[in-house]
Amino acid sequence: MHTEQDFSRSAVGELMDWKAILVSAADLQGFIFIPNPFLPGYQWHWVKQCLKLYSQKPNVCNLDKHMTKEDTQDLWEQSKEFLRYKEVNKRRPRSLLEKLRWVTLGYHYNWDSKKYSADHYTPFPSDLAFLSEQVAAACGFQGFQAEAGILNYYRLDSTLGIHVDKSELDHSKPLLSFSFGQSAIFLLGGLKRDEAPTAMFMHSGDIMVMSGFSRLLNHAVPKVLPSSQGESLPCCLETPPPAVLPRDAVVECCSMEDWQVCASYLKTARVNMTVRQVLATDQDFPLEPMEENKRGITTEGYCHLDDEKSHVKRARLNPDS
Ligand code: OGA
Ligand code: MN
Repeated sequence: MHTEQDFSRSAVGELMDWKAILVSAADLQGFIFIPNPFLPGYQWHWVKQCLKLYSQKPNVCNLDKHMTKEDTQDLWEQSKEFLRYKEVNKRRPRSLLEKLRWVTLGYHYNWDSKKYSADHYTPFPSDLAFLSEQVAAACGFQGFQAEAGILNYYRLDSTLGIHVDKSELDHSKPLLSFSFGQSAIFLLGGLKRDEAPTAMFMHSGDIMVMSGFSRLLNHAVPKVLPSSQGESLPCCLETPPPAVLPRDAVVECCSMEDWQVCASYLKTARVNMTVRQVLATDQDFPLEPMEENKRGITTEGYCHLDDEKSHVKRARLNPDS
């Protein structure tokens, strides 16, 4: 069913300590599962980036539809005090960070047209591009370019419906997925929606690479699992990063103050980053027919998504959700 590959002697060995599980079953060919390879404490950086930095403008998020740029300018600053006192005051209104469902990076995915376009692009974060390109290269995809990212922010009652990621124009490039915080169940199905899926756990730090045949398989996240001992963090997130990081490290140190906010958030949440190459090397976006272009121009910007249509859905069972 699977074989293990040791990457510790490759360039990525300096970034991470890992063994990947290559799934060789014919119906999942190209699916690579890397159980948490992050060095102790290094996940803190990525969690902090998702909550504090990548959630900022010019990146696009679900809150933009209903709020002004000024109001969504600094979700972190507006939410951090709420989160620090989360335990003390459970009945308080939800902070903006807790209302964040998704952020797009690079070529911003348009949820309505299901397309990326040349004219809706902002620079892709360089640290995440570096991480992605190293992971892709270690999996045999030299030259992978991180061009688009979708970050999903899950609460314990969030689910991600069954879908295929096919909007990217070059499917020979892998899709990378990084998970942090509470564990989730991942279902990896077939080319058709009705094929029986394989279920697996995704724990904090785990990386999945969907390449080859598995690149266009249906998948879903039906459940985020609450921590077993009340609201707690997975133990791999308990160790802080080393006080002195290597000089050329991509990860920065994360202050205890920042980490306390992240930790409070993650006790009841999961964050997933997916990174995609959209265009083949040297490819341009195809020209759209005239009519399409006209319809695409709006004064509101590109994102017409609200929570109802959101990629990550909140269960409707909870009356105060
Ligand atoms: C996606 C996706 C999976 C996850 O964003 O396309 O499939 O684990 N995410 O959240
Ligand atoms: Mn997906």
